[in-house]
Amino acid sequence: DEICVIVGTRPGIIKMSPIIKEIEKQNIPGFTIHTGQHYSYEMDRKFFEDLELSQPRHHLTSSPPGSLHGEQTAHMLKGIEAVLVQEKPKIVLVCGDANTNLAGALAARKLQIEVGHVESGLRSNDWRMPEEHNRIIIDHISEYLFAPTKQTKDNLIQDNVKGSIYITGNTIVDALSEHIDLARRKSNILQELNIQENNYGVITCHREENVDDLANMNNIIESLLLTAQDIKMPLIFPVHPRTKNRLQHFDLWLKINSSPSLRLTDPFGYLDFLSLLNNASFVMTDSGGIQEESCVLKVPCITLRENTERQETIAVGSNIIAGTGSDHVLAAVQQSLSKKKDWLNPYGDGKAAKRIVDVCQGKKIDEWTGS
Ligand code: UD1
Ligand code: UDP
Repeated sequence: DEICVIVGTRPGIIKMSPIIKEIEKQNIPGFTIHTGQHYSYEMDRKFFEDLELSQPRHHLTSSPPGSLHGEQTAHMLKGIEAVLVQEKPKIVLVCGDANTNLAGALAARKLQIEVGHVESGLRSNDWRMPEEHNRIIIDHISEYLFAPTKQTKDNLIQDNVKGSIYITGNTIVDALSEHIDLARRKSNILQELNIQENNYGVITCHREENVDDLANMNNIIESLLLTAQDIKMPLIFPVHPRTKNRLQHFDLWLKINSSPSLRLTDPFGYLDFLSLLNNASFVMTDSGGIQEESCVLKVPCITLRENTERQETIAVGSNIIAGTGSDHVLAAVQQSLSKKKDWLNPYGDGKAAKRIVDVCQGKKIDEWTGS
Protein backbone atom coordinates (compact mmCIF):
# COMPACT_ATOMS: atom_id res chain seq x y z
CA ASP A 1 0.00 0.00 0.00
CA GLU A 2 1.10 3.52 -0.71
CA ILE A 3 0.10 5.84 2.11
CA CYS A 4 0.14 4.99 5.81
CA VAL A 5 -1.64 7.44 8.13
CA ILE A 6 -0.75 7.39 11.83
CA VAL A 7 -3.22 8.49 14.49
CA GLY A 8 -3.42 7.96 18.26
CA THR A 9 -4.62 11.11 20.04
CA ARG A 10 -7.87 13.10 19.98
CA PRO A 11 -6.49 16.03 17.92
CA GLY A 12 -4.64 13.63 15.60
CA ILE A 13 -7.81 11.71 14.81
CA ILE A 14 -9.68 14.96 14.07
CA LYS A 15 -6.93 16.53 11.94
CA MET A 16 -6.12 13.33 10.02
CA SER A 17 -9.77 12.53 9.30
CA PRO A 18 -9.97 14.71 6.15
CA ILE A 19 -6.79 13.05 4.83
CA ILE A 20 -8.06 9.53 5.52
CA LYS A 21 -11.31 10.42 3.72
CA GLU A 22 -9.49 11.97 0.76
CA ILE A 23 -7.35 8.83 0.36
CA GLU A 24 -10.51 6.70 0.37
CA LYS A 25 -12.35 9.07 -1.99
CA GLN A 26 -9.54 8.91 -4.55
CA ASN A 27 -9.25 5.13 -4.12
CA ILE A 28 -5.57 5.36 -3.32
CA PRO A 29 -4.16 2.28 -1.61
CA GLY A 30 -3.63 3.25 2.00
CA PHE A 31 -4.19 2.24 5.60
CA THR A 32 -4.25 3.67 9.11
CA ILE A 33 -2.34 2.71 12.25
CA HIS A 34 -3.78 3.70 15.63
CA THR A 35 -1.03 3.81 18.25
CA GLY A 36 -3.34 3.41 21.25
CA GLN A 37 -1.95 6.56 22.95
CA HIS A 38 -5.49 7.73 23.67
CA TYR A 39 -7.83 4.89 24.53
CA SER A 40 -10.79 6.11 26.62
CA TYR A 41 -14.07 6.04 24.68
CA GLU A 42 -14.58 9.82 24.92
CA MET A 43 -10.99 10.57 23.76
CA ASP A 44 -10.89 8.03 20.94
CA ARG A 45 -13.79 5.87 19.67
CA LYS A 46 -16.32 8.69 20.03
CA PHE A 47 -14.40 10.59 17.32
CA PHE A 48 -14.47 7.66 14.90
CA GLU A 49 -18.26 7.69 15.36
CA ASP A 50 -18.76 11.46 15.09
CA LEU A 51 -16.41 11.80 12.11
CA GLU A 52 -17.77 8.62 10.49
CA LEU A 53 -14.24 7.34 10.05
CA SER A 54 -13.44 3.78 9.02
CA GLN A 55 -11.63 1.66 11.58
CA PRO A 56 -7.80 1.62 11.51
CA ARG A 57 -6.34 -1.52 9.89
CA HIS A 58 -3.89 -1.80 12.79
CA HIS A 59 -4.66 -0.86 16.38
CA LEU A 60 -1.65 -1.19 18.70
CA THR A 61 -1.96 -1.95 22.39
CA SER A 62 -1.53 1.07 24.67
CA SER A 63 1.62 1.41 26.75
CA PRO A 64 1.22 0.60 30.46
CA PRO A 65 -0.64 3.28 32.48
CA GLY A 66 1.68 5.90 33.93
CA SER A 67 4.45 5.30 31.35
CA LEU A 68 7.00 8.11 31.10
CA HIS A 69 7.48 9.80 27.71
CA GLY A 70 10.39 7.52 26.76
CA GLU A 71 8.59 4.30 27.55
CA GLN A 72 5.38 5.45 25.84
CA THR A 73 7.27 6.54 22.71
CA ALA A 74 9.41 3.39 22.63
CA HIS A 75 6.35 1.16 22.96
CA MET A 76 4.67 2.87 19.99
CA LEU A 77 7.93 2.95 17.96
CA LYS A 78 8.28 -0.82 18.30
CA GLY A 79 4.65 -1.49 17.44
CA ILE A 80 4.65 0.82 14.40
CA GLU A 81 7.94 -0.61 13.13
CA ALA A 82 6.52 -4.15 13.09
CA VAL A 83 3.51 -2.98 11.05
CA LEU A 84 5.63 -0.98 8.58
CA VAL A 85 7.97 -3.93 7.99
CA GLN A 86 4.93 -6.03 7.10
CA GLU A 87 3.00 -3.40 5.07
CA LYS A 88 5.89 -1.59 3.33
CA PRO A 89 4.07 1.68 2.56
CA LYS A 90 5.69 4.24 0.28
CA ILE A 91 5.05 7.12 2.67
CA VAL A 92 4.06 7.57 6.32
CA LEU A 93 2.02 10.63 7.34
CA VAL A 94 2.02 11.94 10.92
CA CYS A 95 0.15 15.02 12.16
CA GLY A 96 1.25 17.40 14.88
CA ASP A 97 3.49 17.02 17.88
CA ALA A 98 2.26 14.22 20.16
CA ASN A 99 4.49 11.27 21.07
CA THR A 100 2.45 9.16 18.61
CA ASN A 101 3.83 11.23 15.76
CA LEU A 102 7.43 11.17 16.94
CA ALA A 103 7.20 7.38 17.17
CA GLY A 104 5.61 7.13 13.70
CA ALA A 105 8.11 9.44 12.02
CA LEU A 106 11.10 7.76 13.65
CA ALA A 107 9.90 4.23 12.82
CA ALA A 108 9.49 5.19 9.16
CA ARG A 109 12.81 7.07 8.97
CA LYS A 110 14.74 4.08 10.37
CA LEU A 111 13.17 1.85 7.69
CA GLN A 112 14.02 4.37 4.92
CA ILE A 113 10.32 5.03 4.32
CA GLU A 114 9.41 8.61 3.37
CA VAL A 115 7.85 10.76 6.09
CA GLY A 116 5.28 13.53 5.61
CA HIS A 117 4.68 15.90 8.53
CA VAL A 118 1.21 17.40 8.55
CA GLU A 119 1.02 20.61 10.65
CA SER A 120 4.72 21.23 10.27
CA GLY A 121 6.77 24.27 11.30
CA LEU A 122 4.95 25.29 14.50
CA ARG A 123 7.29 26.67 17.17
CA SER A 124 6.50 27.86 20.70
CA ASN A 125 10.19 28.29 21.57
CA ASP A 126 9.17 26.92 24.98
CA TRP A 127 11.70 24.22 25.74
CA ARG A 128 9.68 22.87 28.69
CA MET A 129 7.12 21.44 26.26
CA PRO A 130 7.39 17.80 25.16
CA GLU A 131 5.50 18.86 22.03
CA GLU A 132 8.25 21.35 21.09
CA HIS A 133 10.89 18.59 21.25
CA ASN A 134 8.71 16.31 19.15
CA ARG A 135 7.84 18.78 16.39
CA ILE A 136 11.44 19.90 15.93
CA ILE A 137 12.67 16.31 15.62
CA ILE A 138 9.85 15.32 13.26
CA ASP A 139 10.42 18.37 11.04
CA HIS A 140 14.09 17.46 10.67
CA ILE A 141 13.48 13.84 9.65
CA SER A 142 10.61 14.42 7.18
CA GLU A 143 10.77 14.54 3.35
CA TYR A 144 7.51 16.44 3.06
CA LEU A 145 6.71 19.37 5.35
CA PHE A 146 3.08 20.41 5.17
CA ALA A 147 3.13 23.88 6.71
CA PRO A 148 -0.33 25.26 7.49
CA THR A 149 0.69 28.91 6.91
CA LYS A 150 3.39 31.18 5.51
CA GLN A 151 4.68 31.86 9.02
CA THR A 152 5.20 28.17 9.74
CA LYS A 153 7.02 27.80 6.42
CA ASP A 154 9.33 30.64 7.47
CA ASN A 155 10.07 28.81 10.75
CA LEU A 156 11.10 25.74 8.78
CA ILE A 157 13.36 27.73 6.48
CA GLN A 158 14.96 29.34 9.50
CA ASP A 159 15.53 25.89 11.02
CA ASN A 160 17.21 24.75 7.81
CA VAL A 161 15.16 21.56 7.41
CA LYS A 162 16.07 19.08 4.65
CA GLY A 163 12.61 18.22 3.28
CA SER A 164 10.40 20.05 0.77
CA ILE A 165 7.98 22.60 2.23
CA TYR A 166 4.38 23.09 1.00
CA ILE A 167 1.90 25.62 2.40
CA THR A 168 -1.37 23.71 2.55
CA GLY A 169 -3.56 25.33 5.21
CA ASN A 170 -4.49 23.35 8.30
CA THR A 171 -6.71 20.28 7.92
CA ILE A 172 -8.65 21.52 10.98
CA VAL A 173 -10.45 23.86 8.55
CA ASP A 174 -11.38 20.90 6.33
CA ALA A 175 -12.73 19.02 9.36
CA LEU A 176 -14.59 22.09 10.62
CA SER A 177 -16.23 22.93 7.30
CA GLU A 178 -17.35 19.35 6.88
CA HIS A 179 -18.89 19.09 10.36
CA ILE A 180 -20.16 22.48 11.45
CA ASP A 181 -23.55 22.15 9.74
CA LEU A 182 -23.89 18.61 11.03
CA ALA A 183 -23.10 19.89 14.52
CA ARG A 184 -25.81 22.57 14.16
CA ARG A 185 -28.36 19.97 13.11
CA LYS A 186 -27.44 17.04 15.34
CA SER A 187 -26.12 18.46 18.61
CA ASN A 188 -28.51 19.48 21.40
CA ILE A 189 -25.73 20.29 23.80
CA LEU A 190 -26.95 23.82 24.66
CA GLN A 191 -30.38 22.49 25.66
CA GLU A 192 -28.81 19.58 27.54
CA LEU A 193 -26.63 21.95 29.56
CA ASN A 194 -29.44 24.50 29.83
CA ILE A 195 -27.32 27.38 28.53
CA GLN A 196 -28.04 30.16 26.02
CA GLU A 197 -26.22 31.08 22.84
CA ASN A 198 -23.59 33.78 23.39
CA ASN A 199 -24.03 33.71 27.14
CA TYR A 200 -21.41 31.30 28.45
CA GLY A 201 -17.69 30.55 28.29
CA VAL A 202 -15.90 27.30 27.45
CA ILE A 203 -12.75 26.12 29.24
CA THR A 204 -10.24 23.41 28.40
CA CYS A 205 -6.90 22.74 30.02
CA HIS A 206 -4.53 19.78 29.75
CA ARG A 207 -0.97 20.94 28.99
CA GLU A 208 1.66 19.15 31.04
CA GLU A 209 3.35 22.45 32.10
CA ASN A 210 -0.03 23.62 33.46
CA VAL A 211 -1.67 20.62 35.05
CA ASP A 212 1.34 18.65 36.31
CA ASP A 213 2.66 21.73 38.13
CA LEU A 214 0.89 22.44 41.43
CA ALA A 215 1.57 26.20 41.37
CA ASN A 216 0.26 26.61 37.81
CA MET A 217 -2.75 24.38 38.47
CA ASN A 218 -3.59 26.47 41.54
CA ASN A 219 -3.22 29.70 39.55
CA ILE A 220 -5.55 28.41 36.87
CA ILE A 221 -8.19 27.40 39.41
CA GLU A 222 -7.98 30.85 41.04
CA SER A 223 -8.38 32.44 37.59
CA LEU A 224 -11.40 30.32 36.72
CA LEU A 225 -13.11 30.97 40.05
CA LEU A 226 -12.46 34.72 39.80
CA THR A 227 -13.79 34.80 36.23
CA ALA A 228 -16.88 32.81 37.23
CA GLN A 229 -17.56 35.25 40.06
CA ASP A 230 -16.96 38.37 37.94
CA ILE A 231 -18.70 37.73 34.64
CA LYS A 232 -21.82 35.97 35.88
CA MET A 233 -22.10 33.53 33.00
CA PRO A 234 -21.89 29.75 33.17
CA LEU A 235 -18.42 28.40 32.40
CA ILE A 236 -18.45 24.93 30.86
CA PHE A 237 -15.28 22.92 31.46
CA PRO A 238 -14.98 19.49 29.80
CA VAL A 239 -12.10 17.95 31.75
CA HIS A 240 -9.32 16.05 29.96
CA PRO A 241 -8.47 12.75 31.75
CA ARG A 242 -4.94 13.93 32.51
CA THR A 243 -6.35 17.03 34.23
CA LYS A 244 -8.91 15.04 36.20
CA ASN A 245 -6.13 12.75 37.47
CA ARG A 246 -3.98 15.72 38.50
CA LEU A 247 -6.84 17.60 40.20
CA GLN A 248 -7.58 14.51 42.27
CA HIS A 249 -3.90 13.85 42.96
CA PHE A 250 -3.36 17.45 44.17
CA ASP A 251 -6.57 17.30 46.22
CA LEU A 252 -8.05 20.21 44.24
CA TRP A 253 -11.23 18.50 43.03
CA LEU A 254 -13.43 20.04 45.73
CA LYS A 255 -11.93 23.48 45.29
CA ILE A 256 -12.51 23.57 41.54
CA ASN A 257 -16.08 22.39 42.11
CA SER A 258 -16.79 25.13 44.63
CA SER A 259 -18.55 27.58 42.27
CA PRO A 260 -21.97 26.72 40.79
CA SER A 261 -21.10 28.76 37.66
CA LEU A 262 -18.04 26.65 36.92
CA ARG A 263 -19.45 23.41 35.55
CA LEU A 264 -17.13 20.45 35.08
CA THR A 265 -18.13 17.73 32.60
CA ASP A 266 -16.62 14.74 30.83
CA PRO A 267 -14.96 15.51 27.47
CA PHE A 268 -17.49 16.07 24.66
CA GLY A 269 -17.63 14.40 21.27
CA TYR A 270 -16.67 16.44 18.22
CA LEU A 271 -20.15 17.56 17.16
CA ASP A 272 -21.16 18.60 20.67
CA PHE A 273 -17.86 20.38 21.21
CA LEU A 274 -18.10 22.27 17.90
CA SER A 275 -21.62 23.33 18.73
CA LEU A 276 -20.57 24.44 22.22
CA LEU A 277 -17.55 26.38 20.92
CA ASN A 278 -19.39 27.96 18.00
CA ASN A 279 -22.06 29.49 20.26
CA ALA A 280 -19.78 30.54 23.12
CA SER A 281 -18.99 34.14 24.16
CA PHE A 282 -15.34 33.16 24.58
CA VAL A 283 -13.05 30.21 25.20
CA MET A 284 -10.22 29.92 27.74
CA THR A 285 -7.82 27.16 26.81
CA ASP A 286 -4.29 25.81 26.62
CA SER A 287 -5.19 23.54 23.68
CA GLY A 288 -3.50 24.00 20.33
CA GLY A 289 -6.41 22.89 18.19
CA ILE A 290 -8.91 25.05 20.05
CA GLN A 291 -6.83 28.21 19.50
CA GLU A 292 -7.16 27.44 15.77
CA GLU A 293 -10.82 26.44 15.77
CA SER A 294 -11.91 29.49 17.79
CA CYS A 295 -10.03 31.70 15.32
CA VAL A 296 -11.85 30.13 12.37
CA LEU A 297 -15.25 30.21 14.14
CA LYS A 298 -14.81 33.85 15.25
CA VAL A 299 -14.93 33.10 18.97
CA PRO A 300 -12.49 35.15 21.09
CA CYS A 301 -9.81 32.97 22.69
CA ILE A 302 -7.87 33.51 25.91
CA THR A 303 -4.82 31.27 26.04
CA LEU A 304 -3.81 30.08 29.50
CA ARG A 305 -0.12 29.87 28.65
CA GLU A 306 2.95 32.10 28.51
CA ASN A 307 3.41 31.62 24.77
CA THR A 308 1.91 29.96 21.71
CA GLU A 309 3.02 28.18 18.56
CA ARG A 310 -0.26 29.41 16.98
CA GLN A 311 1.20 32.90 16.35
CA GLU A 312 -1.22 33.51 13.47
CA THR A 313 -4.07 33.82 15.98
CA ILE A 314 -2.20 36.61 17.79
CA ALA A 315 -1.41 38.35 14.51
CA VAL A 316 -5.05 38.39 13.34
CA GLY A 317 -6.31 39.34 16.81
CA SER A 318 -8.50 36.37 17.74
CA ASN A 319 -6.36 35.23 20.67
CA ILE A 320 -4.81 36.78 23.79
CA ILE A 321 -1.89 35.18 25.62
CA ALA A 322 -2.93 35.62 29.24
CA GLY A 323 -0.62 33.31 31.19
CA THR A 324 -2.20 31.71 34.25
CA GLY A 325 -2.30 34.56 36.82
CA SER A 326 -5.85 35.61 37.77
CA ASP A 327 -5.48 39.39 37.19
CA HIS A 328 -4.23 38.94 33.64
CA VAL A 329 -6.75 36.22 32.85
CA LEU A 330 -9.74 38.25 34.07
CA ALA A 331 -8.56 41.35 32.18
CA ALA A 332 -8.20 39.24 29.02
CA VAL A 333 -11.72 37.81 29.45
CA GLN A 334 -13.21 41.30 29.91
CA GLN A 335 -11.35 42.55 26.84
CA SER A 336 -12.55 39.54 24.84
CA LEU A 337 -16.20 40.13 25.71
CA SER A 338 -16.18 43.47 23.90
CA LYS A 339 -14.03 42.37 20.97
CA LYS A 340 -15.10 42.97 17.36
CA LYS A 341 -15.12 39.59 15.68
CA ASP A 342 -13.92 40.70 12.26
CA TRP A 343 -10.53 39.04 12.04
CA LEU A 344 -9.42 37.00 9.02
CA ASN A 345 -8.99 33.23 8.96
CA PRO A 346 -5.28 32.47 8.51
CA TYR A 347 -5.68 28.68 8.53
CA GLY A 348 -6.89 27.82 5.08
CA ASP A 349 -9.72 27.19 2.66
CA GLY A 350 -10.70 23.66 3.68
CA LYS A 351 -8.65 22.06 0.90
CA ALA A 352 -5.55 21.16 2.90
CA ALA A 353 -6.18 17.40 2.81
CA LYS A 354 -6.48 17.37 -0.99
CA ARG A 355 -3.21 19.31 -1.33
CA ILE A 356 -1.42 16.91 1.02
CA VAL A 357 -2.68 13.77 -0.70
CA ASP A 358 -1.81 15.27 -4.10
CA VAL A 359 1.78 15.95 -3.00
CA CYS A 360 2.03 12.35 -1.74
CA GLN A 361 1.14 11.21 -5.25
CA GLY A 362 3.73 13.44 -6.88
CA LYS A 363 1.17 15.90 -8.26
CA LYS A 364 1.77 19.65 -8.49
CA ILE A 365 -0.39 21.74 -6.17
CA ASP A 366 -1.53 25.34 -5.79
CA GLU A 367 -0.44 26.32 -2.30
CA TRP A 368 -2.72 28.12 0.19
CA THR A 369 -1.73 31.74 -0.27
CA GLY A 370 -3.44 33.21 2.78
CA SER A 371 -6.52 35.11 3.75
C1 UD1 B 1 -1.21 14.22 24.56
C2 UD1 B 1 -0.14 14.98 23.81
C3 UD1 B 1 -0.48 16.44 23.75
C4 UD1 B 1 -1.87 16.66 23.16
C5 UD1 B 1 -2.90 15.82 23.92
C6 UD1 B 1 -4.23 15.92 23.24
C7 UD1 B 1 2.16 14.09 24.07
C8 UD1 B 1 3.49 14.34 24.66
N1 UD1 B 1 1.17 14.89 24.49
O1 UD1 B 1 -1.23 14.70 25.89
O2 UD1 B 1 0.43 17.13 22.92
O3 UD1 B 1 -2.21 18.01 23.25
O4 UD1 B 1 -2.47 14.44 23.94
O5 UD1 B 1 -5.29 15.63 24.08
O6 UD1 B 1 2.00 13.21 23.26
N2 UD1 B 1 -5.62 9.38 29.65
C9 UD1 B 1 -6.76 8.63 29.79
N3 UD1 B 1 -7.43 8.26 28.67
C10 UD1 B 1 -7.03 8.59 27.43
C11 UD1 B 1 -5.87 9.35 27.28
C12 UD1 B 1 -5.17 9.75 28.41
O7 UD1 B 1 -7.15 8.29 30.91
O8 UD1 B 1 -7.69 8.22 26.46
C13 UD1 B 1 -4.86 9.80 30.87
C14 UD1 B 1 -3.90 8.74 31.35
O9 UD1 B 1 -3.81 8.82 32.73
C15 UD1 B 1 -2.58 9.21 30.74
C16 UD1 B 1 -2.71 10.73 30.81
O10 UD1 B 1 -4.10 10.97 30.57
O11 UD1 B 1 -1.47 8.75 31.46
C17 UD1 B 1 -1.90 11.46 29.80
O12 UD1 B 1 -2.13 10.96 28.49
P1 UD1 B 1 -1.02 11.13 27.35
O13 UD1 B 1 -1.54 10.59 26.09
O14 UD1 B 1 0.30 10.61 27.82
O15 UD1 B 1 -0.83 12.70 27.24
P2 UD1 B 1 -1.90 13.84 27.05
O16 UD1 B 1 -1.85 14.71 28.26
O17 UD1 B 1 -3.21 13.28 26.62
N1 UDP C 1 -12.33 18.61 21.56
C1 UDP C 1 -13.49 17.84 21.63
N2 UDP C 1 -14.11 17.69 22.85
C2 UDP C 1 -13.65 18.27 23.99
C3 UDP C 1 -12.47 19.07 23.90
C4 UDP C 1 -11.83 19.20 22.69
O1 UDP C 1 -13.94 17.33 20.62
O2 UDP C 1 -14.26 18.10 25.04
C5 UDP C 1 -11.63 18.73 20.27
C6 UDP C 1 -11.50 20.15 19.76
O3 UDP C 1 -12.58 20.46 18.91
C7 UDP C 1 -10.18 20.14 19.01
C8 UDP C 1 -9.40 19.02 19.64
O4 UDP C 1 -10.30 18.29 20.45
O5 UDP C 1 -10.36 19.83 17.64
C9 UDP C 1 -8.26 19.54 20.48
O6 UDP C 1 -7.65 18.52 21.16
P1 UDP C 1 -6.79 18.73 22.47
O7 UDP C 1 -7.13 20.02 23.09
O8 UDP C 1 -6.94 17.49 23.28
O9 UDP C 1 -5.29 18.70 21.92
P2 UDP C 1 -4.32 19.80 21.30
O10 UDP C 1 -4.98 20.43 20.14
O11 UDP C 1 -3.95 20.76 22.38
O12 UDP C 1 -3.11 19.00 20.92
